[in-house]
Amino acid sequence: MRKEIPTSLSKTKESRLGDSVAPRMRTVRLGVHFAERSAIEDITLDFLAGQTTSLVGPNGAGKSTLLKCLDGILAPTHGEVFLDEQPVLRPSPRVAYVPQRSDVDWRFPISVLDVALMGRALRASRLSPVSHRDRQDALAALAEVRMRRFAPVQIGALSGGQQQRVFIARALLQEADVYLLDEPFSGVDAPTQALVLQVLDDLRLAGKTIVFATHDLAMAERSADVSVMLNRRVVATGPPSQVLTVHNLQSTFGGASASDFPRRSSA
Ligand SMILES: Nc1ncnc2c1ncn2[C@@H]1O[C@H](COP(=O)(O)OP(=O)(O)O)[C@@H](O)[C@H]1O
Ligand SMILES: [Mg+2]
Repeated sequence: MRKEIPTSLSKTKESRLGDSVAPRMRTVRLGVHFAERSAIEDITLDFLAGQTTSLVGPNGAGKSTLLKCLDGILAPTHGEVFLDEQPVLRPSPRVAYVPQRSDVDWRFPISVLDVALMGRALRASRLSPVSHRDRQDALAALAEVRMRRFAPVQIGALSGGQQQRVFIARALLQEADVYLLDEPFSGVDAPTQALVLQVLDDLRLAGKTIVFATHDLAMAERSADVSVMLNRRVVATGPPSQVLTVHNLQSTFGGASASDFPRRSSA
C-alpha cells in the first residue's frame, strides 16, 4: 500500500521551495480609512503556508486593523485580501482569529467549554447541535492548553493567561489553515507565553499560516520566520534579524521608545 504523505507536511515543504508556490494569503495595496484618518495604507504582503509572521509596531500602528482585514471582519476601503487567490469578503472557516484580549467582553456569561465549542461552529459556519464527538474534541483541545479542568467555569472568572489559552483552544478546534492572533503574549503569565509559543510552533510544523501582532520585540523575534514592521505603512519586512534593527525601531517606535528595546545594531 502506498504511504500517504500528510498534506500538512507536504505543504510545509512546498512553501520552502520559494517562488513557485502561491502565498496562502496576500494583501494587495490594502488600506483602511476611519473617517478622515487612515489606519493602514498601501499594505502589500504575502503570507505563506508553514510560515509564521509577526506584525510589530507601536500602539495605533494598525496591527489590529490589518488582522481584522485578513480575517474578513473588517472591509478595507482600498485594496484587496486574498486567501488562496480568492478574494476575502467575509470571515472564512479556514481562518481562525484570536482577538486582542481588550476587544472581548469578558462579562458575557459563557463557560470555558462553550467558548471552545464555538470553534466547531466557526468551522461549520453555522450553529449546529453539539455532538458527543464535538464535546470530546473540545475537551481534548482544552487539555492541550491545560484548561480541561476549567471546562464548566465561566470565562470571566479566569485570569488573563487562562482566557488566552481558552481562545487558543477555540482556534484549534476550528481546524483552520490560517491562524491570526492579536497580541497573544500581552497581559498573560510566563507559562502561558511558553505554551502559546509551543502551540504556534506545532501549527507551523503542520503547515499552517500564522500571523500574530505584538509590540513585544522579544516575542516578535523568537517565534517568527518573517517580521513586518508596521506604522500605518510597512516600514520593513523580512527575517526578524534584519527587520528588528535599531534603525527600523527608531523610525517606527520613535527615538525615545526605541531606546527601550536595544536589541541589535542596524544591519
Ligand atoms: N473602529 C474604529 N474607528 C475609528 N478609528 C479606529 C477604529 N479602529 C481603529 N481605529 C484607529 O486606527 C488606528 C490603528 O488602530 P489599531 O489597528 O487598533 O492599531 P494597533 O493594533 O497597532 O494598536 C488607531 O489610530 C485607531 O485609533
Ligand atoms: Mg491592536
